[in-house]
Amino acid sequence: MEQKKYTEQPVITLNNGIDIPALGFGVWQMEDLKECENAVIKAIHTGYRMIDTAAIYLNENAVGDAIRNSGVDRDKLFITSKLWVQDTTYGEAKSAFQRTLDRLQLDYLDMYLIHWPYADFTGAWKAMEELYEEGKIQAIGVCNFTIEKMEELKANAKVLPVINQIELHPIFQQKELQMYNKENNIITQPWSPLGNGNAGLLDNEKLKSITGKYSKTVAQIILRWHLQEGFCVIPKSVTSSRIEENFNVFDFELTDDEMNTVRSLDTGKRLFFDPKDIAWEKKMLSSVADI
Ligand SMILES: NC(=O)c1ccc[n+]([C@@H]2O[C@H](COP(=O)([O-])OP(=O)(O)OC[C@H]3O[C@@H](n4cnc5c(N)ncnc54)[C@H](OP(=O)(O)O)[C@@H]3O)[C@@H](O)[C@H]2O)c1
Repeated sequence: MEQKKYTEQPVITLNNGIDIPALGFGVWQMEDLKECENAVIKAIHTGYRMIDTAAIYLNENAVGDAIRNSGVDRDKLFITSKLWVQDTTYGEAKSAFQRTLDRLQLDYLDMYLIHWPYADFTGAWKAMEELYEEGKIQAIGVCNFTIEKMEELKANAKVLPVINQIELHPIFQQKELQMYNKENNIITQPWSPLGNGNAGLLDNEKLKSITGKYSKTVAQIILRWHLQEGFCVIPKSVTSSRIEENFNVFDFELTDDEMNTVRSLDTGKRLFFDPKDIAWEKKMLSSVADI
């Protein structure tokens, strides 16, 4: 397949040579399927070209409908989905991938990610490598992998992950893991880049003090910070004005001092699930979703 061109925004080149738009659109917690479809259409019309869904979000059908109804050619879009824990084995990964394609009404994915580093993730990775070699996926990667899990994956892999999608926002920056990803030529893709709308973050006085100079909002300052850190960022919103606001971050640049101000907000405390938490892992392994 020819390299896609994304003229609406900067791109990041992944370690396999594929370009990914630097800013995409997340659809976690969009349970109302019509709302999800409308939000994705709005995002595509705004200029977003990368959509991040997952089997477990239970909205791949709505994302597929949005793609077909957006009026934008599928081959101008970068579509990501994720393999859920119960299917993270060599035996299940390929049929789970096919069900994802069917729900999205697509015949290939731009990127497919292992959602959590649990179950037989090295077996699942082998299946994903085969799908990648067959051209059914343009790039393969992971989410929520710690350095230890990444080393385990790498020891058994033929293909290096292009991306590690991890919880990352100004409150929780995972600097060691960021550095590890960089050294291994893996792009860091922050999830919950706005802290899932965390009030303490969006009301932060230090961030507010940067907004006036650029006539931007705190959310825009945070997204700009992610982009300047070299991250590939995927904010989510169902609100039309915010979908536009979050995309309007390519016409200003934070200074080194301002970047450092945002970096100084790191508390080292997660807002969400810890991949190393055994209770969380057990819960994930024991629950079965109808997907
Ligand atoms: N791999 C993983 O394990 C994993 C885990 C979590 C998330 N993700 C991915 O990462 C994506 C982003 O994470 P997230 O959904 O937590 O999103 P987020 O972008 O950090 O936050 C979304 C929340 O912030 C609000 N918001 C969005 N833009 C705003 C703005 N400009 N001003 C004020 N509030 C704003 C949204 O409200 P409204 O929608 O009401 O506007 C929503 O409540 C997900 O959608 C998903 O694709 C992956």
